[in-house]
Amino acid sequence: MKSSEIRRRFLAFFEERGHAVLPSASLIPENDPSVLFNTAGMQPLVPYLLGEKHPLGTRLVNLQKCVRTVDIDDIGDNTHATFFEMMGNWSLGDYFKKEAIGWSYELLTNKEYGFGLDPQRLYVTCFEGNENAPKDEESAQIWSDIFKKNGVTGERIYFMSAKSNWWTPGDNGPCGPDTEMFYDVTGKLTEGLTKDEYIQADDKQQVVEIWNDVFMEYQSKDGKVVGKLETKNVDTGSGYERVAMVLQGKTDIFSTDIFENIIAKIRELSSDAGATLDSSATDVPKEISKSMRIVADHIRTSVMLISDGVLPSNTDQGYILRRLLRRAVRHADNLGMKSGSLFWIADSVIDTYQEVYENVQKQRETIKVAVDTEEKKFRNTLTLGLKEFNKYIKRLQDESTKEVSSEFVFKLVTSYGFPYEMVVEMAKENSLHIDEAEYLKLFEEHKNLSRSGSEQKFKGGLGDTSDISIRYHTATHLLHQALREVLGTHVQQKGSNITTERLRFDFAHPTKLTDEEKFKIEELVNQKIQEALPVGVVTLSYKDAEATGALHFFGEKYGDQVTVYYIAKDADEKGTNLDIAYSKEFCGGPHVKNTSEIGTFKIAKEEAVSQGVRRIKAVIS
Ligand code: ALA
Repeated sequence: MKSSEIRRRFLAFFEERGHAVLPSASLIPENDPSVLFNTAGMQPLVPYLLGEKHPLGTRLVNLQKCVRTVDIDDIGDNTHATFFEMMGNWSLGDYFKKEAIGWSYELLTNKEYGFGLDPQRLYVTCFEGNENAPKDEESAQIWSDIFKKNGVTGERIYFMSAKSNWWTPGDNGPCGPDTEMFYDVTGKLTEGLTKDEYIQADDKQQVVEIWNDVFMEYQSKDGKVVGKLETKNVDTGSGYERVAMVLQGKTDIFSTDIFENIIAKIRELSSDAGATLDSSATDVPKEISKSMRIVADHIRTSVMLISDGVLPSNTDQGYILRRLLRRAVRHADNLGMKSGSLFWIADSVIDTYQEVYENVQKQRETIKVAVDTEEKKFRNTLTLGLKEFNKYIKRLQDESTKEVSSEFVFKLVTSYGFPYEMVVEMAKENSLHIDEAEYLKLFEEHKNLSRSGSEQKFKGGLGDTSDISIRYHTATHLLHQALREVLGTHVQQKGSNITTERLRFDFAHPTKLTDEEKFKIEELVNQKIQEALPVGVVTLSYKDAEATGALHFFGEKYGDQVTVYYIAKDADEKGTNLDIAYSKEFCGGPHVKNTSEIGTFKIAKEEAVSQGVRRIKAVIS
């Protein structure tokens, strides 16, 4: 069964059973700064699981984009991915265990409109009980009845501890016992298994978890269950990639049709020697080597993150993205790919998802450029850093020591962007030694210092005149002008704030911006950056300045003499002909000399501030 058919059948099955289909929320949680990414389908639904009324009713279904980075080091095995889609159905105080389990079974096994899995290869677990909640006899009984009714024989229901059969998104929130469904991927375990045999089969990945039905009727606080929720809810999650793997008779997700084009592109771009070079992969089948899997996984996740507004940076989501891309570069090198290859792999990821996610297709160029820019940046610093490293090795040889100083490691990591594990590898290759504990101490100290530094936000929008803030400031003027061109001249600045991480711009506009509008605005700003327009400044009397039509803000106090910053209409226009300037604003500066210095502009977020006022957060890279 094609993966697109799995997607269709899952949604249709629940839609026919009264569920409203929700679009996937962004990978970046809207109102929850405690997590970097949505890691489960239920995350955007937490307020509704806690009792708030959902506008679409009490039965919901969707495929939610998720990113889980905890297992970044497992990537390359058969079933882990940093990005995945979770199929889920929800009952918000509507149906409970009987319907949820019954429907899971029906969808998994029905041959006509379901997935047509063999019921004799299904195994399930239920919660064994603890001080928080009793043993879930009810779920086990429901399973037992279903198996009996359908003539499914053998031992296949097991009670397990909270470690595997209690689900909670964190220390605080809705939680409850769950029942997990596993499928025998060998096709040989059809007779049933004792509990010990089942646990062994799970360890060996002979049975693979394909669905989890959580019965959320409890609430936890600081990791402790504190009582019951107002309603009994159902939260289910089924990994789309894993289900595709099972239904397509594969033993790893990278061999499914979801990855087909991406892997084909990676093969095409790898040198013939790439496969040989990649001989480190002894634990995975040679056909799709470990480095191929890592490149496929990391570029797929990067594309999805960028499409949701993340750009590489040194903090938060941007840092994870940077790490994924840089790791992908190293594995692309393992495969003997030429520099610039990731751009094309991103392209094939976009092909794969363009029909499912509009924002992926619409931002094709932005995404590819962001991937390519980060690859180039990383390669530049790598080259410089390698030079430093080689010089340093010489020095160590001269001094006849094998100890790499922590300060030097720190410099490679922070100034040259080397991943720490790479420095370790390089040291090993040269039989040198790094004192990891000492390095980590240094790193922690620095992190604490820079954290308190970054908390000091700039006053009045522009207290800092560092290079990056100046670039953001000119980008703000371009954004202002682009907003007026795309949305209309009613757009008026209501506020502006710049940090070294982003710009924030508030403006008068009555409605939420459509994706199309955001895209156009972004394009326009980037176009003006690419046109390399000179930026100039003139000092005029207030009256003369006003007469130029330069934007200024009602209620703002200006002196007799004001400065007007303008961005020229085209690259050759060097005079102070304000009449034909592209943008002109009363402004104290400072600004870049030319828009080409800004970098690539990207809208990260658009939201309401108050009635009639919208806010854009944007980043440049
Ligand atoms: N929230 C549950 C999970 O992620 C369904 O497994």
